[in-house]
Amino acid sequence: MNRTLRCPLCHDALTLGASAAHCPRGHSFDRAREGYFNLLPVQHKNSLDPGDDADMVAARRAFLEAGFYSRFRDTLAGLLAPLQPAHLIDSGCGEGWYTTALATTAQATTAFDISKNAIKRAAKRDAAITWLVASSNAIPLEEASADALVAIFSPLDTAEAARVLKPGAALLIAAPGEKHLWELREALYDEVRPHQAEKWQEELQRHFNFHSEARVQFTMNLPGNATVQQLLKMTPHYWRASREKRTQVEQLSSLVMQADFRILQFRRKA
Ligand SMILES: C[S@@+](CC[C@H](N)C(=O)[O-])C[C@H]1O[C@@H](n2cnc3c(N)ncnc32)[C@H](O)[C@@H]1O
Ligand SMILES: [Zn+2]
Repeated sequence: MNRTLRCPLCHDALTLGASAAHCPRGHSFDRAREGYFNLLPVQHKNSLDPGDDADMVAARRAFLEAGFYSRFRDTLAGLLAPLQPAHLIDSGCGEGWYTTALATTAQATTAFDISKNAIKRAAKRDAAITWLVASSNAIPLEEASADALVAIFSPLDTAEAARVLKPGAALLIAAPGEKHLWELREALYDEVRPHQAEKWQEELQRHFNFHSEARVQFTMNLPGNATVQQLLKMTPHYWRASREKRTQVEQLSSLVMQADFRILQFRRKA
């Protein structure tokens, strides 16, 4: 059991029980039937049901389970394995497809997402992982309690990541490369721009040293309409594109497409 959780309200240590977690000041957080703890206090929520909704989570699960991103996942696991993290964090873990693979490289894993829909599904995957509903803006973990943190296509608060990582610990950020889902974006927008270098990189340098970048690129052949729809639904493009273009893509019977992933590695400054 993970012993490094802290109360999201007062920051005292949390004791985990079979049905709830509580701190010495009497704040208590129920354990859900699926085994996860909800450590997202209502005052930290910016909406009633933050993060990915149930439809997005279901689409992502179906797409990932079909194995289209396996090469990317295996590369991530291959980068983590030699680090042998005692405690790994998966920040914004979604429905946990990556988490279970990455957890095999670590002695203990804590995975969280702001979406209850996502964690509900994730928690059923592996009871040895500590699953939390929590935000990357207020990670309910003690200072310097983790050896590695991964954020895969999910938002990151670099100061919070730095706080929970030990000096020298690894930060792995997976982000889209310029060509990621190019053909899908071409079908959805009049003009497709390459993904830009992220603004957060400057902020990162305050707490982290750049270590290395890995690139994973391949072509995917989405074989049927259901898969095209799943991919569309699990990306933010579903909401960004015009209704007209979206409807056109929803009717495609197949799509050949580039996948382009960047994995940026940093080390926590001492
Ligand atoms: C594109 S999905 C990626 C999920 C997962 N890492 C994957 O690749 O399958 C982005 C995830 O970030 C979550 N998210 C958004 N804001 C968040 C926050 N402030 N803290 C934690 N998770 C957040 C969403 O609910 C969603 O599950
Ligand atoms: Zn408390």
